[in-house]
This record gives sequence, C-alpha cells and structure tokens, in this order.
Amino acid sequence: MFLWGGRFSKKSNNNFLNFNRSLDFDYILVKQDIISLIAWSKFLLSSKIINKIEQSSIENCLNEIKNDLKNNFSIILRSDCEDIHTWLEKELIFRIGKVAKKLRTGKSRNEQITTSLKMWCKDSVKKLISYLKKMQLNILYLSEKYIDVVMPGYTHLQIAQPILFSHLCLSYYEMINRDKIRLSNLLKTFNFCPLGSGAISGISYKIDRYKIAKEIFFSDITKNSIDSVSDRDYVVEFLSCISIGMMHLSRICEDLIFFNTSEANFIELSDIISTGSSLMPQKKNPDILELIRGKCGRVYGSLISILVMLKGIPMSYNKDMQEDKECLFDSINTWKNCINMISLVFKNISINYNNCLKSVENSYANSTDLLDYLVKKGVSFKNSHEIVGKIVLYAIKKKKYLNQINISTLKSFSIFFEDDVYDYISINKVLERKNSIGGTSKNQVLNSIKLAKKRI
Ligand code: ARG
Repeated sequence: MFLWGGRFSKKSNNNFLNFNRSLDFDYILVKQDIISLIAWSKFLLSSKIINKIEQSSIENCLNEIKNDLKNNFSIILRSDCEDIHTWLEKELIFRIGKVAKKLRTGKSRNEQITTSLKMWCKDSVKKLISYLKKMQLNILYLSEKYIDVVMPGYTHLQIAQPILFSHLCLSYYEMINRDKIRLSNLLKTFNFCPLGSGAISGISYKIDRYKIAKEIFFSDITKNSIDSVSDRDYVVEFLSCISIGMMHLSRICEDLIFFNTSEANFIELSDIISTGSSLMPQKKNPDILELIRGKCGRVYGSLISILVMLKGIPMSYNKDMQEDKECLFDSINTWKNCINMISLVFKNISINYNNCLKSVENSYANSTDLLDYLVKKGVSFKNSHEIVGKIVLYAIKKKKYLNQINISTLKSFSIFFEDDVYDYISINKVLERKNSIGGTSKNQVLNSIKLAKKRI
C-alpha cells in the first residue's frame, strides 16, 4: 500500500521501492506511533473531523494492534509497506475500513517520524540510565570486596604513586555517573513535541498543540513548524552521549586488559568470560574487553555519519534524514550490550592481591613521599625534588628501592634524613596520608563508597 499515488501514472520500480523503504528498521517505533495516533484521533474528534464512534473504533483498533503485536513484529516485517506509518494505516484500513482513512487528516509523516523517534529516545534514555546504575552497583561491590588491595597508580603508563584498587574502581564510578547525568539532561532536549507542525508550514485545522503534547508525555512543544520537521539535533546529542559513554568503557577495558597481561598479572578473568586460542593452548584471552574497546569505533562512526548526513541539507525535511535511525538504534544497542558485558566482567574478575602489592613495593612509587619528607623538614620543594631525583638515579644504579638505601647514604644526599624516614615512606603510611577528600586513603575510599551508594 502507498500513501500517495493519485498523481502517478506509472507503477514504481521494485528495486527503488526496496531502496526507499525504512520499515525494516523503523518498525520498532510502532508503539510510539500508536500512542501519537491515538492522541491525533482525539484531536480529530475535538475538531469534529471524526465523530465519537469513529474515534473509539480507531482507538480500540490501535490498541488491538498493539496487543496483537506483543513483542512479535513478524507480521509487520512480512509487509511490503514503505514505513511503519504506512503499515499502521494499511492495517487500520484492513481492520476497520474507511473510517481509518480519515486519521491522516492534517498530519504528515514528517512530523510523525520525529515525534515517534523522540518518544522512543526518551524511553531508551531511561533504560540506559537503569543499566548504568546496575553497572555502578557492580563497581561498588568490587570496591568493597577488594578494599585492602594496594596497587600502583599510573600516569603515562609509568608507575606514579600507590593507590587502592577500590579508589580506581571509584574513578570508574564517577565517569559512569557523568554519563547518567548527561543522559538525564538529554531528557530535557527530547521534551519538545513536534506534532501539529504538518509537513512544513503548520496545520490549518484548529489544534491545541499543548494538549496533544501533554497527552503523549511531552512537557512542551516545538516553536517553529519548519524547524520541527528539520531538527535532528537530539539524535546527534544522543549519539554524542553514547560516544562519550563508549569512550569511558573503552578506557576501563584498556586498564583491565593491561592488568590482565602476563606481565602485570594484577587481575584474572574467570573462565566463563574468557576465550582460548585455536592454536596456542596456553592462551586465555580477554576478548570480551577488546570487543567492547573495538565497538567504540563503530559508535563514533555513527555519530560522524549523522553529522555528515545532516551537514548542508536544506531546511526542512529531506529523505536523507531517514538515515538517522539505523545508526542511532545500532549505537544504543551496542552501548547497552557493552554496559551489560562490562557489568559481567566486574562480577567475574578476581584480583591478585600479592602481585598488585609486589608491583608497588618493587617500584619508586614512594619517591614523592621521600620528597615530602624533606619539605616537612624545611627543605624547599625545588631542592627536595632535585635531591630525591638524584637518590632515585643512585638507587636504580645500585638495583635498590628507596627503603633499601641505608641512612648514612641517604644522609650523604641530605643531612635532614633521619631514621624515621623509612616509616614515612612505607606504603601504608603513604596511603594513609592521602586523606584529602577524594584521595586514596582507606578512610577516604570507604567514605566515598558510602556516599556513592547514596548517590545511586
Ligand atoms: N521514513 C521516513 C523517515 O524515516 C519517514 C518520513 C517520510 N516522509 C516523507 N516525506 N517521505 O524519515
């Protein structure tokens, strides 16, 4: 069935029809389309374009279609209709006859598609927020379970300072929290209802756009009919949130991939989420993490696709814009799957306490503390930095760590060193002193976990 035809004297080319079709992917908007069509039928009733009996029959039939579909869309997909709007009209006409032909009065697919898509985006955002919450809970579970694990903190992938493993987990929590906030802010962007804008110039029937918007759960309306049908900023904004979210996941994955190397050996992934090699029997690979990292590229690709598709297209609706959906749907799905997979990882890793600690002990991660020691004794920061730099160089040459250099040698670098220096640069003391808010001391980390639980 076509929504047009009167003007045409020749039959459409079949290959072209397939090319033009969006039903294969826009069918997932069926529930949103039904909701807005019901609201539209109520408007038609209030404008006396249809009567009460006709409105009820349309509304009942739309609800019936919704129930018949449940989550099985095969009856839609079997059809050769152009898009979900066409399919719904065809189905209504098939079920209730000519009254259904009135439903399209004054309404364009240009406004309908963007209305349904915005509604769908709102639902997706809410679901994504709930997945992110679950992920945060898994992060907190891990932080509590391994609260005593000390590990090296890295900058430039060089050992920097000792941290608690839980502290690192909490940094992941914060990234995810910003994703949640970004998503909630997005809901405001989605809240302007385009319905009642017509194809481009508005609608000549008397319509209360605010009323119809409220009925389909929008808090406000779009203010310009041309912009209403042109605007896809919300798709771009949604995709940029997803891209940032995927970037966060990729960074977490990169950390875990490194921690899981034979060289670092800080963590182990459970067999149930690891893969083997077809050739090398010893291998246990973190495919799950690499795949999440890899899928980040696909999502960035979608963001760029939409930006390029929108670039320079004239106002207002152009068919180019049909290309917005597959990218968006795929990215949402990808992010959702990756969030769920990383949650699975958090539930199925074990931390190698001894290797983490050994890595800190066999390093110069306490150099800053040796420097602080001298500062406390009154040496300027600049001079202390110079002195400790020389001590580290000496230690590397002698194949020793800072706590293995005897006091007389230390004194030869600075007379301010005393016996208490060894206690001062011990890992426990180093950690304990990082007691600034958001710092790595156990005290702070426990407090952050407590607050993080409340913030969820
Ligand atoms: N399938 C179209 C889309 O996704 C729906 C709007 C079609 N409008 C039109 N004038 N052809 O954008």
